[in-house]
Parts: sequence; structure tokens; C-alpha cells
Amino acid sequence: MPVTIKSEREIALMREAGRILASVHDELGKAIRPGMSTLDVDRLGEKLIREHGCVPSFKNYCGYPASICVSVNSEVVHGIPNRHRILRDGDIVSLDAGVIWKGYQSDAARTHAVGQASPEALRLIRVTRESFFCGIRQARAGNHLNDISAAIQAYAESFGYGVVRDLVGHGIGSHLHEDPEVPNFSRRKKGIRLTPGMTLAVEPMINAGTWQVRWLDDGWTVVTKDGSLSAHYENTILITDGDPEILSLTGESEGQP
Ligand code: MF3
Ligand code: CO
Repeated sequence: MPVTIKSEREIALMREAGRILASVHDELGKAIRPGMSTLDVDRLGEKLIREHGCVPSFKNYCGYPASICVSVNSEVVHGIPNRHRILRDGDIVSLDAGVIWKGYQSDAARTHAVGQASPEALRLIRVTRESFFCGIRQARAGNHLNDISAAIQAYAESFGYGVVRDLVGHGIGSHLHEDPEVPNFSRRKKGIRLTPGMTLAVEPMINAGTWQVRWLDDGWTVVTKDGSLSAHYENTILITDGDPEILSLTGESEGQP
């Protein structure tokens, strides 16, 4: 599929979708506490998404059974919500959510500490978020896709962290996953030239230990191979004539880098 350039009308709808998704994440972040089950998180997330008039894009996507991916500690992404999986003080939890608003998608993820997490866990969360901002500093018209990827990798690896390779970011628009793929590591080839009107989901998945992952028998949950902690941070962005626009972030709880 070719990489699409969005029209002003499409961009306006993606801004609305992103604003709603940002507020859903802000609300979820405030709600997370020890004793909640991962299914409680999914139920709350789905309720918030529907209250805003959106459809949760993950629900039934390729058979995924929930609205929010809830991934705890060594789970990297795609954790399946479960009423028996209780969040404990000191855990870290990655929440990945997608919404559809009038036919247009937004996709974003945040990693939160549950109660009081260790300094090492908090550092992983912070560096993962910062790696996203390092990446999108390169997300400028005329640069190439690999400039984003290489910047994320260099920053995360400078802390000794592992950059997940088996999963990548993606173009987004009227479909959740569009071309191009957006790796968080350098593939050395320059990749496509970035052009105003492209919309991308940039989503570093960073492990405290090895970059290698494996899949659990549920067919979805991705975990670190060495059992180390993992964090995920994602936003839907728009390439412009100047700085990229982060569509799925509000100033409220977390402004800029
Ligand atoms: N946010 C994920 C992504 O970026 C999508 C989750 S897959 C689903 O690709 F099946 F859970 F929807
Ligand atoms: Co995504």
C-alpha cells in the first residue's frame, strides 16, 4: 500500500480522535492504583472511549478480545485484560489504546507506575518516553524515516536498554495500520522521505535487559525473553512544514519533553 498524504479534512478528524484519546489516557493514568484488575482498566477505558462517541479500534481487531492492551512488568505489549490479574504496588503497567472517530484512527500508549515503583522502573519509563521525543525531533519534512528510528535506538541504548525489534510503529489514518513501518531501531536503509500530511504512530518499546521477546501461549501477550521490565510509549503524529504535531497528547498531564 502506498503511504498516504492526509487532506485537511482528514487531519482535522485525526486531531479530534487524538484529543479524545489523550484525554482517555489522562483519565486512565489518574485511575490506576494497586488492587485494580487489568480487566477493570479495560472496562474503564472502553467506557471512556464510548462516552466520547468513539469506537475502541482494538476490540476484535484480528480477534483481540479487549479495548485496551494492558501489559504488566515484563509484558511488552498486547497483554490481555483479565479479572484475576491484579495490579500490585511497585508494578509498572503499559496501556495501549486506539479510538476511531468518524472513520479516523488514533493510537497511543503510556506506561505508568502502580503506587511506588523502584527508581530503576521509573527510569525505564522516563527514558522510553524521552526516546519517543528524541525520535520525533527527527520527524521533519525532508528527513527520512530511518532518522526517527536511529534516534530512538541511540538514545535508549545509551542507557544500556534493549530496543524491541519484533514489533514496530506504523502509518495510521482510516486504518489502524498503514504503511510505512516505523521501526525503533536503524535498518540502515534511509527509508521513505517524510512529507507534510503523513500521519505516523511512533511507539518505542524498550526493555531494561535484552531486546529479545517471546509470545505467550495466548497468542497475543509479548514478554521479554529474560524477564526484565519493559515500557511502551506511543503517540500519533503529523508531519508538517515545521515541527511535528503530536495529535494524541494534551498539555494537561504531560506537555513536552
Ligand atoms: N497499538 C497496537 C499497535 O500499535 C495495536 C494493538 S493490536 C490489537 O499496533 F490487536 F490489540 F489491537
Ligand atoms: Co500502534
